[in-house]
Amino acid sequence: MRIILLGAPGSGKGTQAKLLVERYKVPQVSTGDLLRAAVKAGTALGKQAKAAMDAGQLVSDDVVLGMIEERLTQPDAKSGFILDGFPRNIPQAQELDAKLAWLGRPLQIALLVAVDNDILIKRLTGRRTCSSCGQMYNIHFATPKIQGRCDKCGGSLMQRSDDNESTIRKRLEVYESETAPLVAYYKAQGKLRRVHGMDEVDEIFSHICDMVDAEIRPLQVKGVEAQPVVAAVTSPTATAKTAKKKKKKATKTTKKKPKKAAKKKAKKKAAKKKAAKKKVTKKKATKKKAAKKKKVKKKATRKKAVKKKKTKKKVKKKAKKKVAKKKKTKKKATKKKAAKKKKVKKKKAKKKKRR
Ligand code: AP5
Repeated sequence: MRIILLGAPGSGKGTQAKLLVERYKVPQVSTGDLLRAAVKAGTALGKQAKAAMDAGQLVSDDVVLGMIEERLTQPDAKSGFILDGFPRNIPQAQELDAKLAWLGRPLQIALLVAVDNDILIKRLTGRRTCSSCGQMYNIHFATPKIQGRCDKCGGSLMQRSDDNESTIRKRLEVYESETAPLVAYYKAQGKLRRVHGMDEVDEIFSHICDMVDAEIRPLQVKGVEAQPVVAAVTSPTATAKTAKKKKKKATKTTKKKPKKAAKKKAKKKAAKKKAAKKKVTKKKATKKKAAKKKKVKKKATRKKAVKKKKTKKKVKKKAKKKVAKKKKTKKKATKKKAAKKKKVKKKKAKKKKRR
């Protein structure tokens, strides 16, 4: 896999490159990181680069091209690479094309991560990077659990010296004038692809993977990708013998890899399908369970309401009966009392008469 991540400063090239490294096991080659390492180490190259970097300008092509040539010929880059921040202008892109053609490993995709300018400034001023493991955070979008500390290794989080507003504005200007023309350059080669860089990190990554899986991996499986073009391009240093050797080796690799890769891909596809099926079944079961629960609950509520109504009616009837009984008893007592009073009165009258 040989791809370039194109995009303005802060578009998320580094973030996506790190995820791609994990998934496809090819190295991220970031000229920015290489230059920062040289600055930190205080090498002559670092000293030369620092002034340009702090001013938001591009470091000279000679320095960057030398660095890239050395990096791409290291063993881990044989299986592929993700170029992050390189090339930065047309001359660098032309040099890269020539170099890769000579190596028989031409570029496959130039991926543009497109983000609006106002968002870029917020992303860059908010970026914090772990000084020990390089993990990236953002005080606006991806905050660490403990302020100033890396969630992964506990290292302290640093702000890049060129992530201040005035340098950022300069970097964006340089991007527009020097780097943006590469979009047309790769479009003309039919290699330009775009992703919407304002979605969530995972969403963008998933789009990129779909693209890579659809466009690069099938070619690798068929053995098309490593077709050497060594014979067509001559290098000032390479002899015919070494070119022949390289061609033989490349053919060998492509012959061996496809079967393994195809098997792996099929296995992965099957696992993905299985997982998706499982997910659907699980979702269906959960939905069914929830519906059943709702039905039972509704029935119980209805039953309870009916029972409540009945009880209320009963209580009312009982109370009415009680009141009627009380009334009756009272009436009876009043009658009895009146009769008794009448009797006493009569007796008294009788007694008086006798006297
Ligand atoms: P370099 O290091 O390459 O910087 P850059 O191109 O300016 O890009 P950045 O690294 O700043 O941004 P990025 O796109 O990688 O975004 P990131 O993923 O970090 O170059 C630095 C300097 O070196 C240059 O100015 C130049 O001087 C020199 N240089 C380098 N290469 C050169 C070359 N080839 N030729 C000459 N000179 C060269 O994300 C940024 C922030 O946003 C992070 O905080 C991240 O967490 C956040 N973020 C990322 N994605 C999302 C998202 N989807 N949603 C929310 N937040 C996100």
